[in-house]
Amino acid sequence: MTDLKMAQSDQKQQMHHINHTDLEDFVRQILIANGTSSQNATIVSKCLVSADLRGVDTHGSNRIPSYMERIRQKCLDPSATPSLRQITPVVAQVDGHNGWGFVAAHKAMSRAIEMAQEFGMGMVSVKHSNHFGMSAWLVKQALDAGMMSLVFTNSSPALPAWGGKEKLMGVSPIACGAPSGNDSRSFILDMAPSVAARGKIYKALRRGEKIPVDWALDGEGKSTDDPAKALQGVMLPMGGPKGSALSIMMDVFSGVFSGAAFAGHVTNPYDPSKPADVGHFLVAIKPDLFMTMDEFKGRMDYLYKRVTESEKADGVEQIYFPGEIEQIMEERRLEEGIPLAEAEVAGLNKEADLVQVEHLKIQPA
Ligand SMILES: NC(=O)c1ccc[n+]([C@@H]2O[C@H](COP(=O)([O-])OP(=O)(O)OC[C@H]3O[C@@H](n4cnc5c(N)ncnc54)[C@H](O)[C@@H]3O)[C@@H](O)[C@H]2O)c1
Repeated sequence: MTDLKMAQSDQKQQMHHINHTDLEDFVRQILIANGTSSQNATIVSKCLVSADLRGVDTHGSNRIPSYMERIRQKCLDPSATPSLRQITPVVAQVDGHNGWGFVAAHKAMSRAIEMAQEFGMGMVSVKHSNHFGMSAWLVKQALDAGMMSLVFTNSSPALPAWGGKEKLMGVSPIACGAPSGNDSRSFILDMAPSVAARGKIYKALRRGEKIPVDWALDGEGKSTDDPAKALQGVMLPMGGPKGSALSIMMDVFSGVFSGAAFAGHVTNPYDPSKPADVGHFLVAIKPDLFMTMDEFKGRMDYLYKRVTESEKADGVEQIYFPGEIEQIMEERRLEEGIPLAEAEVAGLNKEADLVQVEHLKIQPA
């Protein structure tokens, strides 16, 4: 979401600002009280708050009530430990054992990075996992180790196949990244293949807002600005058949290939009735395979400059590199805190009450 769109949506309800370390600690305590180990709770809370910091509010700490409901209904096992099987020197597979998707994917990316450090690249497929939120945190995990990456996942049915009308394919994000040069920002692409991520509709519903009419169709196939009606219908793919094909691509690599659910059989993270069996596909790549690191960085600087300094269209103030808006947002929110709507704070505090955790600390206005 752009800076401007974020500012506009923040104005519609009373917002509270929360310091990111307070939010991370609060989320961590709720996770531990619900059966997650301290080590895994640290991974999950960091991933969720990283989404909040980057302005991807749809995939941040607000997901806690729905995730906890899945634990209460025994659809997600918070104590599961993912296992890893090495297939070839550069290929491994992780079985998430129906535990946290964040933990299984974190383990997979850690192994992919180790293989890339030794052999130039590492590929890890993940099965029997759960929703892992914002894909960009995995791209960032690779960037922190100086690696390029591909991060694919499948997800529950939300989009029709092109020409169809039933919810079949997931709004499954495609993400990838590359380290920055010395004078530029990292490349982080993280996008759902729909016009908008479905989480943006859940967020509008939580905040009592309307949605743009080109995001989804209602249950009768008509355009709608009502998030509740949109959730009864289907999401619209970006670029028509091309968005639909990208969603099928995520299912081929993350679902078919891994042994996880696919072809419309992944369970929605908001449905606490059965395990999700999500699949992921992660690749880490060493950037200096074909040239020195200095040359790679110089070329990234040149690309960044060419893109961001290209001639602007009428009415455009600034041209951004993919992921740059979110990086600027993160710098701002590290300073100013993370804005959460009143209803969202109440939802989180309700979870805290259930497990006797202290309420969220709100920054003084
Ligand atoms: N785990 C799941 O199942 C799942 C499913 C759907 C979405 N998601 C997550 O939802 C999040 C939101 O997805 P989205 O498609 O709505 O993202 P988005 O449309 O806000 O952004 C998509 C990409 O475009 C770039 N971008 C946006 N505006 C730009 C601009 N003005 N200039 C240059 N680049 C720009 C962003 O940096 C980003 O890389 C993602 O983090 C995704 O991983 C997760």
